[in-house]
Amino acid sequence: MLNIVVLVSGGGTNLQALLDAKAAGQIPNGEFVRVISSAAGAYALERAKNAGIQGVVVERKGRTAEEFETALLAELEAAKADLIVLAGFMTILSEKIIEKYPEKIINVHPALIPSFCGKGFYGLKVHEAALEKGVKVTGATVHFVNEIPDGGRIIAQKAVDVLDGDTPEILQRRVMEQAEWKILPAAVAKLCEERK
Ligand code: GAR
Repeated sequence: MLNIVVLVSGGGTNLQALLDAKAAGQIPNGEFVRVISSAAGAYALERAKNAGIQGVVVERKGRTAEEFETALLAELEAAKADLIVLAGFMTILSEKIIEKYPEKIINVHPALIPSFCGKGFYGLKVHEAALEKGVKVTGATVHFVNEIPDGGRIIAQKAVDVLDGDTPEILQRRVMEQAEWKILPAAVAKLCEERK
């Protein structure tokens, strides 16, 4: 059984997809032991609480990246994390943490990497860029986290159509529903099965 820690910063719909998959018996070899939020008041913390999972705030605001990562590392170690899932986590991690968890940190990105990714491409901005470019297909990617933002080995991808009249919000929702909420739980289940 792998100890899974989920890192969040906001609404936590991807966290919810993971918790729903666990409740449905689709992640038999993983246990969600902690949800860590980089922002106090993130709705993701409510979702953790409702599922009976310990939620912790490691505030990013008001401290240096170094201080933040020292506090985050302490929480990850306390949770005995085997697998760390970035699910709507809006901070780029430095080597200090990444080198301690090689191929043990995964991220979901709301585009088909290598499109619309890297520094500055997060959340709604990704979908704004896709619409601006006029692509007809976008999607989501689950990948390992290494020292290059959105640059680690790709685990899974799913394509989603862009439709006439899409706004960034509409496209974001479609990418979540059709891609992110499916490929993230599936990738977690697969990794847990392989590493149990
Ligand atoms: C999701 O679309 C996720 O892929 C994206 O932010 C949203 C978070 O939603 N993540 C990134 O852009 C990370 N670079 P959620 O809090 O409802 O899961």
